[in-house]
Amino acid sequence: MAKIDALTKLEKLTCITPASALVLVATKDKNGTANIAPIAFLSMVSTRPLKLLVCISPRARTTKNIEDTGEFVVAIPTPAILQKAYDAQIKAADGEDKIAKLGLTAYDGVRIKEAAANIVCKVDWIKEGGNHKVICADIVAADIEEGLYTPDMAELRSSLSRIFHLDGNEFLVDGDKVRAEK
Ligand SMILES: Cc1cc2nc3c(=O)[nH]c(=O)nc-3n(C[C@H](O)[C@H](O)[C@H](O)COP(=O)(O)O)c2cc1C
Repeated sequence: MAKIDALTKLEKLTCITPASALVLVATKDKNGTANIAPIAFLSMVSTRPLKLLVCISPRARTTKNIEDTGEFVVAIPTPAILQKAYDAQIKAADGEDKIAKLGLTAYDGVRIKEAAANIVCKVDWIKEGGNHKVICADIVAADIEEGLYTPDMAELRSSLSRIFHLDGNEFLVDGDKVRAEK
């Protein structure tokens, strides 16, 4: 089969790399102020012990909070909070609770009530990785919305919506193109 060079042809190589679904990374700063940001670069690393990694810009407050506290929560958004997930990219003022500002509800630290699931993480290591920091963390707890839970893996996969970021304010939600309001 004929191939064409993808690196020069595509504006963004992330169009062809397997995408990870959009998540929200919730943190607190040293003073306890809550923050949240949409993050698309996430991968599982290990199942025993459970570990994942997220890649976040060193300029993000989220990164500073994670470096300062060693903790974060990966919240899995539902389509119902897609707009809030998009809006979570805003910069909050110093001392401002971005979770509350967006109308989201934090419980048990910075788990998000409106999320489909929450994965509580403690940092193992952080390394420089180009224009992102690679943050590898142990998964120490997790919860899922009771109504979405089923012990059947295939059913569970389909009960959780998959939200992929396309570009700008465009998302793919369970296969349908959806635009968030700018
Ligand atoms: C859909 C979407 C996905 C994003 N994914 C990432 C990501 O994977 N890594 C990253 O560093 N920034 C990502 N961003 C940008 C951050 O969310 C943005 O820098 C945000 O302002 C960080 O907020 P903070 O400074 O409060 O941490 C994404 C933004 C959007 C809208």
